[in-house]
Amino acid sequence: MRYSAKIKGTGRSLPEKILNNFDLEKLVETSDEWIKTRTGMSERRVSADDKASSDYATAAAEQALQMAELHAKDIDMVIVGTVTPDHAFPSTACLIMKNLGIKNMPGFDISAGCPGWIFTMNIAKQYIENGTCENILVVGVDMLTKITNYKDRNTCVLFGDAAGATVISRAEDKDISRLIDSDISADGNYWDLLVQPAGGSRTPASYNTVRERQHTIVMEGNKVFKLAVRSMYNSCETVLKRNNMDTNSVDWVIPHQANMRIIDALAKKLKVDMKKVIINIEKYGNTSAATIPVALDEVIRSGKIRHGDIVLMTSFGAGLTSGSVLVRI
Ligand code: UT7
Repeated sequence: MRYSAKIKGTGRSLPEKILNNFDLEKLVETSDEWIKTRTGMSERRVSADDKASSDYATAAAEQALQMAELHAKDIDMVIVGTVTPDHAFPSTACLIMKNLGIKNMPGFDISAGCPGWIFTMNIAKQYIENGTCENILVVGVDMLTKITNYKDRNTCVLFGDAAGATVISRAEDKDISRLIDSDISADGNYWDLLVQPAGGSRTPASYNTVRERQHTIVMEGNKVFKLAVRSMYNSCETVLKRNNMDTNSVDWVIPHQANMRIIDALAKKLKVDMKKVIINIEKYGNTSAATIPVALDEVIRSGKIRHGDIVLMTSFGAGLTSGSVLVRI
């Protein structure tokens, strides 16, 4: 017996502290004008020093459960997309489960860079469709400011912190809401374009790795930029074609919020009117795995996206990874 999956609830949690372009002007040789015109960003949120991914993720999860009208004990599985877990181990999923007071179910993290939430959605869909689970909590959370080098102007202007949570549930026959399709992909040949060089088994932490700031993000931004548009476009085309759809059948596109110029180029290539594209990059910058679930929650709660709308969500990131999810809300 195969079942269908749907989005039943969404939630988000963002730190209160704001870092704006003028604050960054004091840290590196940059300008509000450069950042706005080259990225579309004005502000980003920064985690409190004593908070970590699981804290914001738990707050987002509680909101998503409330919208879904479910209790934490109704959840059968927790999957977290993150590259900034609280610890290398145990998983952030285990910590969120502890915070929610639930146990004895699968809980694990997925390392897929910015498309982390897209990857969790793809996995959750399989477990709902094959009947193993009825309600899955998926989270996209990253605290990239914790691993950002605030002496590197190429990267430090880009990133912010956030958590987005989504409850995926078994759809009833009468439901029109559906996770229609999803595509995920990775190409390790580009692993070194976006990397946190030290802290893993290749280069364990040492006095030198800390001194040389090898625990922070290193990125060849312009090379990633070129691959970003192509990989998101290909992934969107894959899910649309597989379902005999094109972008005319889509009500909304929620792209990864990495750079306004990337979003513009993608919309142009997909032939989508910018009016249909959801953008919050100005307020939050690039929050990695959280960009899409946060934007989705904002537009569902504001009523901009309504029950029955078809939404295409797509992302790319470290790996290099890419992926898309096509849903009817
Ligand atoms: O979620 C996935 C994560 N990946 C990304 O988001 C990466 C996507 N890439 C990008 O968004 C863009 O490549 C960046 C915003 C990172 C950079 O924009 P760009 O137009 O590709 O600039 P560039 O790297 O080619 O650099 C152009 C110039 C350089 O100066 P010179 O060599 O021409 O004199 C940079 O040093 O801009 C300079 N530059 C800056 N100037 C002022 C780089 N960063 C800054 C800065 N302020 N913050």
